[in-house]
Amino acid sequence: MSAHSRRKFLEYLRNSPLLLPAAGALVAQDPASKAIGSPDEALNVFDFMTAAQKKIMPQHWAYLMTGADDDLTVKANREGFQLFQIRPRRFVDVLQIDTSVEVFGQRHTSPVMVAPCGSHGAFHPDAEIATARGARDGSAQMILSTYASLSIRDVAKEYGRPLWFQLYPTNDFEVTRELIRRAEAVGAPVLVLTCDSPAGANRETQRRGWDKKQPQCRACHDTGVPNYLREHRTFDGIDLSRVRGHLYPITWDLVERVRRVTSMKIVMKGVVTGEDAELCVKNGVDGIIVSNHGGRQEETLLSTIEVLPEVIDAVSGKIPVLIDSGFRRGTDVFKALALGAKAICIGRPYLWGLGAFGSAGVQRVLELLKAELTVVMRMSGTPAVANITPRHVRRRPC
Ligand code: FNR
Ligand code: LAC
Repeated sequence: MSAHSRRKFLEYLRNSPLLLPAAGALVAQDPASKAIGSPDEALNVFDFMTAAQKKIMPQHWAYLMTGADDDLTVKANREGFQLFQIRPRRFVDVLQIDTSVEVFGQRHTSPVMVAPCGSHGAFHPDAEIATARGARDGSAQMILSTYASLSIRDVAKEYGRPLWFQLYPTNDFEVTRELIRRAEAVGAPVLVLTCDSPAGANRETQRRGWDKKQPQCRACHDTGVPNYLREHRTFDGIDLSRVRGHLYPITWDLVERVRRVTSMKIVMKGVVTGEDAELCVKNGVDGIIVSNHGGRQEETLLSTIEVLPEVIDAVSGKIPVLIDSGFRRGTDVFKALALGAKAICIGRPYLWGLGAFGSAGVQRVLELLKAELTVVMRMSGTPAVANITPRHVRRRPC
């Protein structure tokens, strides 16, 4: 390829929505580039993206990578990290590094958690079983989606530790109640309510990637209710005849109803303003995940790392604040910890690992992020997470 046509090709890649999220990793996106052949070959999480794209069906790839509208919030999530720079300190003994954090009284060896993502069966035949194995072996907290391909019980059994369960309610509270019972039955200590999805989003990249020539996969593409729900084992044996939609708004009345039927901790996922964070504290929510759903729900153009400080201010230490959307590097994790997050969730990177190599890919993605975090903690003079303070980052002056 001549230098000119290569430049043109890279230009094309840069503007291609299916490839957009990996800003800063263009080489890994080049479909002509050689994909890694095993998890050990990966230098960073982007290496799994190329490998996964070669294995996942095009319409499932589009579902995985899509944002809303022009995918600009997906892009903003990555760019947001460049607004914050690290202020490393010297003269500290950093021979031993401890990346562990405590959330709700439980110690986690890494602050990186597995975000709830639906339909893992679209990315690997072993679906959430492979994810659970990879998360367990990678020592990460797994949050299981309502729209898991497999049942809560089977995934929990494979994981072998307490899962957190993410709940999407429907208009029928009896269905919600049964899902809560199932999560409690496997000992889930935390219930995550996702408040950023009152309805479906305008996902054009997903729709464009829908290859009509490919065999249809009902788990992903049959959006008819209740068929869509029935294709996810979470709902096995539940009467879905009264369900009118698979997404439903979260209101404080609904949160109150949920609280009355469970003693699990309630974590609100999808908060992106100080005002809503204050309401969460006022209404007795136990924790927050600052999230814009990886840019999949709305074109806000704000990265989550940018809104983290206002949420941390609003909460003033009363409840733990976690964060996700766009985390790909140990430095990203470090910046969020410095700004006050207790833990960080990842979505697409572990799904790339899953699609490329099943459980071994998930495990390696988690290990890579922990290893990168270890390096940046060592370089910044912070031997333990408790040593990472707001003074270790600064926001670039405008
Ligand atoms: C998601 N996400 C998501 N969130 C949720 O609360 N319930 C869900 O079922 C899903 N499903 C889902 C599917 C897929 C394919 C993706 C990529 C994401 C959002 C997810 O929990 C998380 O907020 C984002 O993935 C974080 O952004 P990154 O790490 O993907 O950039
Ligand atoms: C998604 C839904 C399942 O992001 O939350 O695709």
